[in-house]
Amino acid sequence: MSSGYQVIARKWRPQTFEDVVGQDHVVRTLRNAIARHRIAHAYLLVGPRGTGKTSTARIFAKALNCTDGPNADFDVNDPIAQSIADGRCLDVIEFDAASNTQVDKIREFIIDTVAYAPAQARFKVYIIDEVHMLSPGSFNALLKTLEEPPPHVKFLFATTDPQKMPATVISRCQRFDLKPIPTDLIVQRLKKIAAVEKITVSDEALHSIARMADGGMRDAQSTFDQMISFCGGEISEADVLDVYGLVAAAKIAELGNALAAADHRKIVAIVDECDANGRDLYRLLVDLQTHLQSTLLDAIARGGQSDALGVSMTTEQLTRLLDGLREGESSVKHGLSQKINFEVALLKAVEGSRARAIDSLIKEIAMLAESLPEDGSKKND
Ligand SMILES: Nc1ncnc2c1ncn2[C@@H]1O[C@H](COP(=O)(O)OP(=O)(O)O)[C@@H](O)[C@H]1O
Ligand SMILES: [Mg+2]
Repeated sequence: MSSGYQVIARKWRPQTFEDVVGQDHVVRTLRNAIARHRIAHAYLLVGPRGTGKTSTARIFAKALNCTDGPNADFDVNDPIAQSIADGRCLDVIEFDAASNTQVDKIREFIIDTVAYAPAQARFKVYIIDEVHMLSPGSFNALLKTLEEPPPHVKFLFATTDPQKMPATVISRCQRFDLKPIPTDLIVQRLKKIAAVEKITVSDEALHSIARMADGGMRDAQSTFDQMISFCGGEISEADVLDVYGLVAAAKIAELGNALAAADHRKIVAIVDECDANGRDLYRLLVDLQTHLQSTLLDAIARGGQSDALGVSMTTEQLTRLLDGLREGESSVKHGLSQKINFEVALLKAVEGSRARAIDSLIKEIAMLAESLPEDGSKKND
């Protein structure tokens, strides 16, 4: 352990496969590869920022190179695992393509060194971060090595943007897609950190922090760090909401209910209140969508209908409501008057969801009419 202050995101970097949150499919496959001695020579980790790509690559490097390995359940105190964690291992070479784009650099770092046997460990592991940033020349040089890699060499590539990579390189890698981390798992992890760091923080506050991070653990941890600097050892939901201009979960639920009930007066009142309190209305729109999306999933799970918003809503109505909100997004984000655009977006979405209800009503009536007994109605073609 190094002394001195370290930001949470670094201090709490996962050190073993068990520490990695929310990427079970990736961890399981990597573990199996090690257990079955079926280790590919190149892996590509794809995913949004702060979801565990670099951490997973380093853990995999430790599992490959630990004493008596490869072993997915390596001892964190193993000297080689330690040296990898501390960035001291000569055989685990990290290269950040975002800051070294020249072909001669990658030549110096990789192409000219792959042929040599590892100095201390079993494998020479090259971890290339933001690999999509390499120049075409660098990719070409790399491709040659990927075609015929020496047996002691492993490549671990990470990227947020695989579309920018040549297909020839991608096809020579085993690819893993890391997912945005669910809010609940982020909250759990922050809770654990809070306990160890002796920070008193409510669940609601952690939920607000996690909700803002949109699935990125690093972002959530950085926000948590900022809140600790701002508040000290005690953080409430109101603190988080005030600092980031967020709207409380309860208020978001209230707005969702008002939309479902088509209560225009209430909708406008809530928007007025949020605006007067300096809340970020675009963020509110995003949070409202997330809330309605989970209501939609609830409706689907219940066979097409949900009462979660106070009145009964069908999946069809919820979908229309969400479509309406999505259509209003860019005007709220980029328009001149955020507040007016936000109100219009909400009211339009309500109208849209109800218009559809009338639509299906007509369809239902038509179907009913068709199914009426012959003597009760005249069927016309
Ligand atoms: N899946 C995860 N589980 C636990 N912590 C994570 C996870 N993903 C990211 N983190 C946290 O965020 C920090 C940055 O993660 P990193 O692996 O570098 O993300 P990426 O390379 O995907 O941008 C880590 O030090 C850790 O604190
Ligand atoms: Mg990274």
